Amino acid sequence: MVKKIREKLSVFSNYLKLYKKSLRLVLDASPVFSVMMLILVPMQAALPAATIYLANYLINEMSESGNVVNTVVIFWGITFLLGNVISPFITFIQGKLTDDLTYHLNMSIMKKSESLQTIHFFENSEFLNNIELVSSEASWRPVNLLVFGTSIIGSLITFVSMIVLLAGLNMFIALILLVALLPQVILAYKIQQQAFETLVSNTEDSRKLNYYTKAVIESKTIKEVWLFNLYQFFQEKYKQAFHRIKNSVDKNRNKQAITSIVFLIFTSLASVWSFMYIVNDIQRGRLGVGSILVFSSSVIYILQSSTRFVEDSSLLYDTLLYMDKYFTFLSLADKSADTKERDVSLTREPSTGLTLQDVSFKYPNTDHLVLKNVSFSVAEGEKIAVVGANGAGKSTLVKLLMRLYSYGEGTITFDGVDIETMDILAYRNKFSAVFQDYAKFNLSLRENVMISDLVNNHSDESVRMYLKQSGFDTKELNIGLDQQLGVKFSDGRELSGGQWQKVALARGMYADRSILILDEPTASIDVQTEYELFTRFIEMSKDKTVLFITHRLSLVKQADKVLVLKDGEVVGFDHHDALMDTNSYYRRMYEMQANPYK
Ligand SMILES: Nc1ncnc2c1ncn2[C@@H]1O[C@H](COP(=O)(O)OP(=O)(O)OP(=O)(O)O)[C@@H](O)[C@H]1O
Ligand SMILES: [Mg+2]
Repeated sequence: MVKKIREKLSVFSNYLKLYKKSLRLVLDASPVFSVMMLILVPMQAALPAATIYLANYLINEMSESGNVVNTVVIFWGITFLLGNVISPFITFIQGKLTDDLTYHLNMSIMKKSESLQTIHFFENSEFLNNIELVSSEASWRPVNLLVFGTSIIGSLITFVSMIVLLAGLNMFIALILLVALLPQVILAYKIQQQAFETLVSNTEDSRKLNYYTKAVIESKTIKEVWLFNLYQFFQEKYKQAFHRIKNSVDKNRNKQAITSIVFLIFTSLASVWSFMYIVNDIQRGRLGVGSILVFSSSVIYILQSSTRFVEDSSLLYDTLLYMDKYFTFLSLADKSADTKERDVSLTREPSTGLTLQDVSFKYPNTDHLVLKNVSFSVAEGEKIAVVGANGAGKSTLVKLLMRLYSYGEGTITFDGVDIETMDILAYRNKFSAVFQDYAKFNLSLRENVMISDLVNNHSDESVRMYLKQSGFDTKELNIGLDQQLGVKFSDGRELSGGQWQKVALARGMYADRSILILDEPTASIDVQTEYELFTRFIEMSKDKTVLFITHRLSLVKQADKVLVLKDGEVVGFDHHDALMDTNSYYRRMYEMQANPYK
């Protein structure tokens, strides 16, 4: 019990903290409009009480002396007018405020993404869910924040001012109503919260619902859904998850509906009794006739504003949870981006190339060491082939070299300087790469090649040349550089798997960087073209350091050295011929490929 109360209290204090933080954000995004809102909203909320108070005064005066008090009429008129005019004005300012806040929010998200330069964030599914949610909802969340955020301030003020007004008539009655309302309010809170925590919120099951629906629609999965006729399968899964959620909601819903009715009857009875009490007091001359107006209006306002307060604060809760994700996202620190300030010069003499010393690595949130005590050196201009079985750690190794991840133990140095102390953008600028899971940009063919080097302006001729070198002959294929690629937008042309890879190759070669990394760059390319392409790349990259990962051992003879990885460990690093003589693991691998049936 105590634990439960403590839990509730911590939720509440968290709520308040987030509310305060969000308020500060709104103030930062648009100081002038925020301050205007902070003045206007309480004013608007207190106006009904003022109007009722004045009307009450007027009625009492008139019934006692028959005189109309002009100043009171004028005051009443002013408050009434103000009450009407203020509302569209608040809407107007709210609109402006929303624009400012939306801009502020989205800009800060984009800027933050720029500063998160290692992909381990982007490969973490929880993080991905969060950032997708943060950015996809950034366009409409601000409206909710403002509407509900101001509404709860307003209804709280209305509620308090009406209670004060009622207490002016009779303290006891105000107290009775307050006590009668309390269980009702708490219950309403519970109902709202539960509705929320199940269907609306991002529980595992509701995310599953989402996934099952998408699976039968999205192009990534649709082919297999068609082929294996998986509609029934996914519908069944959807049904099960849906009923799991619904059952738990229904149970609570029934219970709460009944208790809610009981409490409502209780509150209504309390109100009726209070009304009779007041009427009685008026008959005895203890209260003025105006008290009827005060009582009847304030009761309505009290009920209304308390309901609205509850509803809007639980709706705001949803938005505050969003804000929490937003604030968390903004507070993420990227280790590799932090080093920017240190700015150690990159071009140190003498050039000693890349050196790894006892590098061990595991992916974030995993326990398995993917690389174990890896040590080797690559001199400037050397061509290194990296070989090993699936899962040996080849792709991981090159990702570490490019600082797409921060490595764990050991050191990686470039020309003698620890790469983690270097400016990350300047360091990455040394590299060009064709990734194993290369990107297929839904952009024009020209852009698909040129985006690897947006600084130097090359001619269309050179773009065509790089494409041709990569085995993608624009003339032969009769495809213009302006051709939109992919199927996401209109007039897009879809390429074959191998053609996409050739475009990625052209992009990788197009950027003139000193180190070139190729991760199975010819995996989708036919064997005849492969050998030819490879020889050409090595030729073209004469002055560059090249690391290429391949499963085709026929290609490795072109390398100065072959790095053999096995279960994350280096088991050989030498020229092909030497390895064939001394390394039995390598020799077996090579012979298996050369003659698998031996
Ligand atoms: N993003 C990731 N998060 C967690 N583990 C990962 C991630 N990427 C790879 N791994 C794990 O790291 C190990 C090495 O993967 P890596 O991609 O480096 O292998 P590889 O040698 O390139 O294999 P392949 O020849 O299949 O491309 C594998 O066991 C894999 O399960
Ligand atoms: Mg790989």
